[in-house]
Order: sequence, then structure tokens, then C-alpha cells
Amino acid sequence: MKNLKHMLVTAIASLTLATASWAAPIEIKFSHVVAENTPKGQMALKFKELVEERLPGKVEVKVFPNSQLFGDNKVLEAMLLGDVQIAAPSLSKFDAYTKSLQIFDLPFLFDDMTAVEKFQQSPKGQELLGAIEKKGLVGLGYLHNGMKQISANKPIITPEDANGQKFRIQTSDVLAAQFEAVGAIPVKKPFSEVFTLLQTKAIDGQENTWSNMYSKKFFEVQSHITETNHGVLDYLVVTSKEFWMTLPEDIRPIIKKSLDEAILVGNRIAQKKADDDRQAIIDSGRSQVISISKEARLKWIAAMKPVWEQFSHEIGADMIGAAVEANN
Ligand code: LMR
Repeated sequence: MKNLKHMLVTAIASLTLATASWAAPIEIKFSHVVAENTPKGQMALKFKELVEERLPGKVEVKVFPNSQLFGDNKVLEAMLLGDVQIAAPSLSKFDAYTKSLQIFDLPFLFDDMTAVEKFQQSPKGQELLGAIEKKGLVGLGYLHNGMKQISANKPIITPEDANGQKFRIQTSDVLAAQFEAVGAIPVKKPFSEVFTLLQTKAIDGQENTWSNMYSKKFFEVQSHITETNHGVLDYLVVTSKEFWMTLPEDIRPIIKKSLDEAILVGNRIAQKKADDDRQAIIDSGRSQVISISKEARLKWIAAMKPVWEQFSHEIGADMIGAAVEANN
């Protein structure tokens, strides 16, 4: 009897062990909308490489670039439904989830990417990572792309030149207000539609970073790009609370470490990518890159800066103050 019991216990133990070793790896779907040769595309691939090297057979990362799996407007909903585990939407795409992240869209808030980095790493910037928690999402870190420029089919030098022009924007009310402030018509559209909208002249222009304009060939269907550096386009790497908290305790820290390292890699290449892609656009001769004078820049600032006041009750004057401080 005793022997039978022992045999039974051993059989159950080996069955459990076998099931564990046959258990399918945890699957992480990482969905994004840009090309692979961008800071986000490269970061996602690095994350896959590091995770699969450190957790072989235990975790599998599937990266879906170019809106292959989900476009901008769907990815966060899909994440909450468990259909995708990691994404890195631009900070401008969280309007429906929090008003706090709108700070990153305020025009002429940051002088350059050094200031953006400084603010993101400051206590206030780190506090913002938790802004979407109540909605069931976890902010895992910031990722850079770069400063935005304005493209159109005519030279846009002063704010008056933008008057009456239709510009595609990301889904952000601050960005809408920014273009309305210069008499332009903002049109909220997903990233995957921008090239066709420009090509068919359904819109006149758009604002984006050098790497997005280069990798998605916007420069081939826009005659001019004005180097305004008027705002930032960065990302929040995000997951769902449900997925994150149900990860095994021994696996979650390895995934987080891999993510932090992949973000560092992405951030390290972002500036070089911006410089190289800017130069590649100039070399292509397809779109003329216009630098603006200090006077013209001051006109843009005067026209767009009132937007800060419009949104400061939602964002918080203290937050805006901390961001301004990062320029010093
Ligand atoms: C855009 O929609 O223009 C960008 O947010 C795309 C991206 O992810 O860089």
C-alpha cells in the first residue's frame, strides 16, 4: 500500500515536471507603427534579442512593425483585451487615457532633446510614467524619437504661411490647438494613412521627425520641410497591468532589465538617426529643407505659445514649470 502511494506521488511529480517543461513559452507581442530602421523599430528588435537570449524557451517576443498588427488608434484597446502585450505609442496618443501626458505636446516647451531627457528623468517626469495606471496600463519607460519639423507643399516660413493649410496631426487636442493657433486646419489621422493622404493631396502637410519622414517617404510627396524643431515626438513604452502582474516573479525583472537596456540602445541611436535621415532627405533633392531665422522662430513661438495657457489647468502649472526648468 505504502509502495503504491509512493509510486503514485512520484508519477504525479514527474507529470507536473513534464508539463512544466513542455509548457508553451510566454508570448509577448510587441506592436508598433513605424519602420524597422527607426529608433523604435531598432529598440523593439533589441528587446526581442535580449529577452530570448536571457529566457530561452521561456519567453518568445514577436515584433510587428509598420502597423501590421494594430494601428495607433487600436493598440491600447487591444492591449487591455490581452491581444498585444507591449507597445510604444507616441506620448501624443494617450489623450483618451490621461490628460497629464499632453505636456509633451506643448509647442516650444523643450529647447532640444537634452532638455526632454532631463525632464523625463526628473522626479516629475518619472511621476508621469504612472499617469495611465488607473486605466489598467503600466508605463515602463520613455523612448526617444526626436524633435518635429513641419512639411508641406509650399515653403512654410512664418506662421502666416500655415494659415488655411490642412495638416495631419496625431490624436492630441494640444496638437490640434497648436495648428489652430496659426489658422491652420488640423486633421487627426493614423500614421499608416499619412503617406497616401499626402500623395493624394487630401491634406497639405504634416509634422513629424526626420526618421519618420525619411523611413515612410513623406519627403517624396512634400516639396518643403521647415526645420522648426517646435515640439517633441517621443514614446511611452507600455504594457497592461494584468499582463505585467501575472508574469512569474523570476521572469518579470529579466524582462524589465532587457527593456531598459533596449530603450538605452534606442535612445543612443535616436539623435544619429535624426541627423543621418535629415541629411539623406537633403541629398535626395526631393524635398527642400528650409532653416528659419531667429526672427521667424520668435514669430512661431509668439503664435503658438498661448496654447500652454489653454491646457495648463489639465496639465498642471507645476509640471509645465518643471519642464521649462529642464531647459537650463
Ligand atoms: C505619428 O503618428 O506620426 C507617430 O506617432 C508615429 C510613431 O510612432 O513614431
